[in-house]
Amino acid sequence: MSLRVIILSCLLWVLTEARAPCGLQMDCVPKGLCINAPTFSSACLNSETCCHTSGILAIGAPQNCGRSNPRGLETETQVTLDQSRPNEFPWIVALMKGSDLFGSGTLVTENVVVTAAHLMMNKTIDDFLVAGGVWDLKQLFKNTVVTRYPARIVRHPGFNGITGRNNIALIVLAISFQLKPQIGTICWPSPGISYVGDRCLVAGWGKLDYLDGDISHRQKKIDLPIVSSGVCAAQVSRVLGRRYTLDPTMLCAGGERGRDSCKGDGGSPLMCPIPGYPDLFEFVGIVNSGIKCGEEDVPGLYTNITQMKSWIDEQMDDELNKPYNTFPIYNIDYDSY
Ligand SMILES: *[C@@H]1O[C@H](CO)[C@@H](O)[C@H](O)[C@H]1NC(C)=O
Ligand SMILES: *[C@@H]1O[C@H](CO)[C@@H](O)[C@H](O)[C@H]1NC(C)=O
Repeated sequence: MSLRVIILSCLLWVLTEARAPCGLQMDCVPKGLCINAPTFSSACLNSETCCHTSGILAIGAPQNCGRSNPRGLETETQVTLDQSRPNEFPWIVALMKGSDLFGSGTLVTENVVVTAAHLMMNKTIDDFLVAGGVWDLKQLFKNTVVTRYPARIVRHPGFNGITGRNNIALIVLAISFQLKPQIGTICWPSPGISYVGDRCLVAGWGKLDYLDGDISHRQKKIDLPIVSSGVCAAQVSRVLGRRYTLDPTMLCAGGERGRDSCKGDGGSPLMCPIPGYPDLFEFVGIVNSGIKCGEEDVPGLYTNITQMKSWIDEQMDDELNKPYNTFPIYNIDYDSY
């Protein structure tokens, strides 16, 4: 067992066991999750209520986060090295305006998608749809593809389109996705872990090359290293000028020739395998911006999820008090994997 698993197990223990329950067969749960008359208890957090265990709404299985389909779900389909396998990453959703893709997002609960704020500029909830279970954009008619209307867009109020600061938005869906092998959620990044030097993946439907005319209709997949912000700032300022500073809400990955996210990948996840569990993935970054694509020593820029996690948590807590709430609590079930 790696140290990370031990630390996480302890953390989960603290969160689950050490929290005093609010009475016999009662438990503190987020407010939206109690279906019978909730009881006030000072043992619970502000955002929670004391609920009889029989009345706790069980939605989905958040402990099943991050499970990829490493062999793909259509084993007869041949893919190239730079393509994802069919539905390999079930948390990647396509953002569609009519029949056109304009970006991607990542499913973190059954009804919350994390994406880039720049994709949500000038967009209202009537402008687009969220499609789950997509792999090939030419096969949107397949019965494994499910579309959902957005109910609310939560943009980071501090988003800056010039520096890329706080480039994050949440899309709350009107109806939750029903989780199935083609549609699932990713895990949050483990707290306190630096991924610098790790090889991670980015997947989306962007162009393969900056000069390509078209986005790729099959989802592509690129593996790239996470670069430290010091090295990255130095490399990017060589291109953009010495006055460039890397915004602290961003992280860098790539810088290898021909292996990069590119136009059309906006909002796609940068995801890292959990050490020791190559098929389980954590959400590390959102494709934010870059300078051309795939140039040597010019890493791509991503919104750092760990850095944004407290903002995300605040927004999701707010969502719990809405009628279309869902279950924002996650948990990695290592033992049954
Ligand atoms: C958003 O709308 C404003 C005003 O109409 C326009 O100037 C701007 O270019 C639009 N931005 C995008 C990303 O479409
Ligand atoms: C992302 O943000 C976290 C929290 O601030 C930080 O510890 C980590 O080093 C950042 N990741 C990278 C690759 O810069």
